[in-house]
Amino acid sequence: MPLRLGIVGLGAVAQLVYEPILARRRDVFEIVGVAELSRAVRDAVGGRLGVDRAGRHASVEELLAGGGLDAVLVLSSGSHGAVVDAVTAEGIPVLVEKPLAWTHAELDRLASRSGLIQVGYMKRFDPAYRRVAELLDGGGSAIRAVEVTVLHPSDARQIAFRGGTLATATDVAPERTAAGHAHSELLRAGALGGAAATLGWVYSDVLLGSLIHDLAVLRPLVGDPRDIGWARLWPEDWHPERLSVGFDADLAGAAQLSLRWHYLPEYPSYTETVRVHTETASYALTFPAPYLLHAPTRLRVTSAREGYTEVTESTSHLEAFEAQLADFHRGVANGLAPAIGLDEARADLRTCQRLAAALAATLGLRIGGEAAGTSDVAEPVGATGSPRQ
Ligand SMILES: NC(=O)c1ccc[n+]([C@@H]2O[C@H](COP(=O)([O-])OP(=O)(O)OC[C@H]3O[C@@H](n4cnc5c(N)ncnc54)[C@H](O)[C@@H]3O)[C@@H](O)[C@H]2O)c1
Repeated sequence: MPLRLGIVGLGAVAQLVYEPILARRRDVFEIVGVAELSRAVRDAVGGRLGVDRAGRHASVEELLAGGGLDAVLVLSSGSHGAVVDAVTAEGIPVLVEKPLAWTHAELDRLASRSGLIQVGYMKRFDPAYRRVAELLDGGGSAIRAVEVTVLHPSDARQIAFRGGTLATATDVAPERTAAGHAHSELLRAGALGGAAATLGWVYSDVLLGSLIHDLAVLRPLVGDPRDIGWARLWPEDWHPERLSVGFDADLAGAAQLSLRWHYLPEYPSYTETVRVHTETASYALTFPAPYLLHAPTRLRVTSAREGYTEVTESTSHLEAFEAQLADFHRGVANGLAPAIGLDEARADLRTCQRLAAALAATLGLRIGGEAAGTSDVAEPVGATGSPRQ
């Protein structure tokens, strides 16, 4: 039986990723309602998804009042804390795009509903990633280094690279947009205190908005970053359109992590590589741009054999977003615990606040808010080697 699904937020990721998948997967999800601030977008996208006018709402509250939902997909922008709070208060399970929330205060409100919340880190469902997890699990050789590099073009560039056009939210009432911005500023200040004036958008858009994917990818492989030894923003006149962010940190054992994230508006396509070097082999994953459905993730393994070097390359075309949706369906239909839940969201939030605190220290800024209470040693989270199958 298909689950009766509601969707909150119908912007870029909804239109470019979820809409085509859900259009093919009517066997598992029947979309009965949407909530989207923009009337033009909810009519255009809601119509394409087969939702009748009565099912197209301007807010999550209206969507919930309509009733008849088995599950909700949260794809709105900003922190998702309030939307997830409203949905789970009704006892309805959610799959929520990353990040779940921007503050621990929001997560605290959700603490008693962890069984209802699955966090969207789709790369964890990627077969090439799972293969690396298996190889490292069975490898026995110590990990020496992990290197993550993200080359991030502008959103417009990413959408152009994929092709097609988007219905855009240009008709939202200015007061609603202003209230949304004010709420976001409050959350950033709650997280970082006065340092939010300088680093707030780096925290919400870069750390929680993008690098969080890599924290989630690394956790089952090598755990969370421990002491942060180096943190930097560059070039000297960095600003939202011209920015690189880098961190070096200790990992468990004798391993070192290097995280590098570069905003390159005109770079041709989103590129993300994760390389793990053990004492006997290297494992290099190159993830595709998220909007290119079914684009391959490449895995290159280099290892020593007696007298020669072996290099193997494999690609996985299975769409990680689709595998994630199938897992969500299976979990809700069978009452299983979410594959990736609140504990991991909290661990990632904690790490992002520690990274922001390290950047503040580099800049000579006083960190406040929740981040002021973060110690520089991560508490390990109880993630297992591989997600639920
Ligand atoms: N997993 C990935 O690789 C990936 C890729 C892109 C985006 N995302 C995530 O998806 C989410 C959405 O990103 P996007 O790029 O589509 O954003 P977007 O700005 O293009 O779209 C967001 C839409 O949500 C609507 N909206 C905002 N608040 C709302 C609310 N309270 N109720 C109803 N509608 C609301 C907006 O009007 C807008 O149309 C973000 O959390 C982002 O981090 C994930």
